[in-house]
Amino acid sequence: MSRRPQPLVAGNWKMNGLIADLGEIEAVRDAVVAGRAGRAEVLICPPATLIAAAAKIAQGTALKIGGQTCRSESCGAHTGDISAAMLRDAGASYVILGHSERRASYGETNAAVRARAVSAAQAGLTAIICVGETKADRDAGRAFSVVGRQLLGSIPVNPDVERLVIAYEPIWAIGTGLTPTIQDVAAMHRFMRAEVDRLVHSDAGAIRLLYGGSVRPRNAAELMAAEHVDGALIGGASLDADDFMAIANVYLRDAEAKVPA
Ligand code: 13P
Repeated sequence: MSRRPQPLVAGNWKMNGLIADLGEIEAVRDAVVAGRAGRAEVLICPPATLIAAAAKIAQGTALKIGGQTCRSESCGAHTGDISAAMLRDAGASYVILGHSERRASYGETNAAVRARAVSAAQAGLTAIICVGETKADRDAGRAFSVVGRQLLGSIPVNPDVERLVIAYEPIWAIGTGLTPTIQDVAAMHRFMRAEVDRLVHSDAGAIRLLYGGSVRPRNAAELMAAEHVDGALIGGASLDADDFMAIANVYLRDAEAKVPA
């Protein structure tokens, strides 16, 4: 049996969070230190303004901090942008790339996402590359072909598998309270696992496949139990430490369940 990668429970705060909200990160850190995430790795990606302060809070613990995007260049005349090296310098160890909100608002292409993933790995960051179909794509039976094209275009050639995570986020499930059926999640993740194995020749099994889109404490156990789901990328529910840790707690029960009686 192949080794299952360590699950990842990642929070994407999006454009939310002020200094006054750092207490939520302290609460998550304390819960992680207390072992409440079981065998899962826990990551919070706050807005760029909070990364350095969040990294200070997480310092010396297993809690990881990440950015929400970066450019592929390491520096230069790119007003308002941020590089992978800058994220790393601020204390981040992860970066989310190609989130559908960025693909939609800024026209980020698969090629741009791939270039950013390469620069992230060079800076020592792990990239979480997001893929996912629109409702129209799903209704038209194009979900697999859309996601397949995104994987083909966004995954770097010969990536460092330890520095790459893929997140399947159906766009219609983000922030809507809607989720695909467990069968649909499992089918897409099985497809992605096969595509990643085909595209990445060496040790592709180490690349974690997350599900994102309306993950909540009430549905997390079911979604995380779906075949080939190695964790979650969580938006709204990650803003509250209790909700976020209730989701991560799925992996505590998982660990306990595996302890022989
Ligand atoms: P929600 O969990 O709020 O649906 O957001 C998902 C998401 O976009 C995470 O990147």
